[in-house]
Amino acid sequence: MSDRTQFLLDETQIPRAWYNINADLPVPPQPVLHPGTLQPVTPDFLSVLMPMSLIQQEVSTERYIEIPEPVRDIYRLWRPTPMRRAVRLERLLDTPAHIYYKYEGVSPVGSHKPNTAVAQAFYNKQAGTKALVTETGAGQWGTAMAMACSFFDMGLEVFMVKVSHTQKPYRRIVMEHFGAKVYASPTNLTQSGRAVLEKDPDSPGSLGLTLSEAVETAAVSGGAKKYAAGSVLGHVLMHQTVIGLEALQQMEMAGEYPDVVIGCAGGGSNFAGFAYPFVHQNLTAGKRARIIAVEPASCPTMTKGTYAFDWADLAGAAPIVKMHTLGHSFVPPEIHAGGLRYHGMAPSVSALVDHGDVEARAVKQLETFAAAVQFSKAEGIIPAPESAHAIRVAIDEALQAKQAGQKKVIAFNLSGHGHFDMMAYQAYQRGELKDYEYPAEKVREALSTLPQITP
Ligand SMILES: Cc1ncc(COP(=O)(O)O)c(C=O)c1O
Repeated sequence: MSDRTQFLLDETQIPRAWYNINADLPVPPQPVLHPGTLQPVTPDFLSVLMPMSLIQQEVSTERYIEIPEPVRDIYRLWRPTPMRRAVRLERLLDTPAHIYYKYEGVSPVGSHKPNTAVAQAFYNKQAGTKALVTETGAGQWGTAMAMACSFFDMGLEVFMVKVSHTQKPYRRIVMEHFGAKVYASPTNLTQSGRAVLEKDPDSPGSLGLTLSEAVETAAVSGGAKKYAAGSVLGHVLMHQTVIGLEALQQMEMAGEYPDVVIGCAGGGSNFAGFAYPFVHQNLTAGKRARIIAVEPASCPTMTKGTYAFDWADLAGAAPIVKMHTLGHSFVPPEIHAGGLRYHGMAPSVSALVDHGDVEARAVKQLETFAAAVQFSKAEGIIPAPESAHAIRVAIDEALQAKQAGQKKVIAFNLSGHGHFDMMAYQAYQRGELKDYEYPAEKVREALSTLPQITP
């Protein structure tokens, strides 16, 4: 074991291929269904939305897929990202556990999201796409995509959840800085947006609706615009595995191997990106790390949702996939400030949770913000509230190790910094945040809205 605290790779050690979990999934993947016919989708349907190269990655069972040189070249702007041992946090907790974190907040826009944004922009450019359309919640994904599109000289339209568009202007301004057009969703530019506005002109919007608006805009553009996904889809998760592949090398430098691997999960991309290379070791190399995906108790997709086929978006314009879901009409409670608001979960993460390869854990809002503050005071970094969910569980695991007098190695993904999330931290400091657990009756209610799929 090394007594160093920083594990830095040089740019020649950026992985040359992404890891594709499809090659090792212990259960066969479920079909992706057409939103209207409920039958398996054809590549033709998907090709309206994305280039064939990405569709092929979505269904590929090759274990490793080469990272194109132009993508690796851009990765060098911030990759390899550091892995650090949080010794000051360990001391503060007085724990025998060793806590490591991989820090994705060093990317130019402050999160893991560019790892796939750059790849998607590259493949679209290669296929001749002129402009992309996407959705964003608080804006982390939108800013990554805006930067990537500016690198490849492509247009970008972003449907941003209205409440964030007005209350959190800074990421919107970053997107505009890179040349993107940003709309407050619901808009009257799409049928799905108009339908919501007709019922509720003051609707604050939801991530599910922004997705409907983005998919619809691409679908009716006659091929002029394609859709870029920020999470959930297999190719997105795969692009993120650069994180875990680097982390494996860095743990080796540290001379330790994690007993516990932790990531927060919204749609599943940073969790999968960090954890899947370790899951690969569990599935094929006899390792036994516990792998934990963490979600908010107010949006408890994996811990309270149902594992079933559901639409990926609110309006039923996007494909249907089998996943843990709270129902596609889910709107998160207003009081929830910590992100991770999507109603579903990536199909592969859902399958691994269902099969018992990944543990799912829900944490409450106040304890999550408390963990973020504790982490900042020890390590200096202000984490994105999303990432703070992983910190909460890392601290809980370290405290359990202390109680048990057990040396445990814990590794988590710090998916982004929270410099644009200070209003949420202010609300926490002022005592304005509350805990909220999503009621089980609401989950039961949502079941009635699921598509009826006959096996
Ligand atoms: C910093 C950060 N971490 C995590 C997430 C959750 O998304 P995912 O589960 O796709 O990584 C987000 C989503 O916007 C994010 O901005």
